[in-house]
Amino acid sequence: MAKTKEKNNNDNVFHLKSRKAHHVKIVVEEDVSVEGQTNFFEYFDIIPSAIPDIDFEEVSTETKFLGKTFSAPILIAGMTGGYPEAKKINQAIAEVCQDLNIPMGVGSQRAMLADPSLVETFDVKKFAPDVFLIGNIGLVQLNYGYGVDDAQRAVDLINADAIAVHVNAFQELMQPEGDTNFKGLWEKMEEICKTLSVPVIGKEVGSGMSWQDVLRMQEAGCSAVDVGGAGGTSWPKIEILRHVEEKTKKKAGKPLPLNDPLLKWGVPTALATWEATTKTNIPIISTGGMYHPLSAAKALLMGAKMVGIARPVLKILIEKGKEGVKEYLEEYILNVKRIMFLVGAKNIEQMTSMKWRLVPWGRAKDWLEVRKLLL
Ligand SMILES: Cc1cc2nc3c(=O)[nH]c(=O)nc-3n(C[C@H](O)[C@H](O)[C@H](O)COP(=O)(O)O)c2cc1C
Repeated sequence: MAKTKEKNNNDNVFHLKSRKAHHVKIVVEEDVSVEGQTNFFEYFDIIPSAIPDIDFEEVSTETKFLGKTFSAPILIAGMTGGYPEAKKINQAIAEVCQDLNIPMGVGSQRAMLADPSLVETFDVKKFAPDVFLIGNIGLVQLNYGYGVDDAQRAVDLINADAIAVHVNAFQELMQPEGDTNFKGLWEKMEEICKTLSVPVIGKEVGSGMSWQDVLRMQEAGCSAVDVGGAGGTSWPKIEILRHVEEKTKKKAGKPLPLNDPLLKWGVPTALATWEATTKTNIPIISTGGMYHPLSAAKALLMGAKMVGIARPVLKILIEKGKEGVKEYLEEYILNVKRIMFLVGAKNIEQMTSMKWRLVPWGRAKDWLEVRKLLL
């Protein structure tokens, strides 16, 4: 009996390791956005300030988040860990984030909970002791044998400063071996928030959240919410690509065709950010297709406290190395600063209290009108 359990555990670890490696390969090599699906930031125009009445030299992107001060409201969203190559990726990201003084997340720590020898692929504080590190675990795992104590272990084993608890119903549904029992998970989110020793970030991974969901996360005790909107990396699409490549149709059934309209499921990042910042007061992270600093500036104008970036960082790291990532992020932050100047915002506090400078139009305006969320 004990032997079977051990064997199953080993099989499971092998699968998790190869899945994380496969995800990175697909993200780097394929187009993983959904054709025709954007994050909707293009439907918000910015009203400029003709005479900003500030000196560009005084503009500061410094910001406070979860009680710490960072050089800019930008974080690298959690991506990987759990196999040898991931150690190098996480180490490089950590070193850049420490240099720039911005937070970083690691990918789901489930594999290292099953196999402690994998801890070192997430444990970046060895290389970057001062980096603000966000751990990661999937909420649905709490219905599949993992407990709140495992989430605490995930934090402790890598000395994380916070943990992102991700929700990813659509991804799990499309994943060949996905876990689809989401029953009772709001209560489990509450339990995690009550019990863990570090702040908990409720995090979607690309389907976005309505303000009602964000409010519920706030009531559950989350310290921040990453709205993880549609329009960036599409996890359902990645899982479908895995179906095709692995020719596996196990639990999930026949995969959707890649041009199926259902793949446009979810709240685009701009709308999710606007909803959350209008109806709740929990700190919001705006992630999902934030590939241009203009999107970041608009998210900040909406009132988001942080902007999360994932895929571009991974791609640049693989193509140009650590220095390439640093250069990309420095330029990105510089351009956010330039836009702050152009709207007359001297600091992030001013920048995040100027929602009136955004004019929604077209589909965004229609959405906000129906949702009674126009200013
Ligand atoms: C290779 C890769 C792996 C990811 N793995 C995780 C994960 O394990 N846990 C998680 O919460 N999000 C994960 N994400 C999602 C990102 O944190 C982010 O929410 C999403 O990719 C949208 O951002 P983007 O459009 O900038 O890529 C991953 C993203 C990438 C690109």
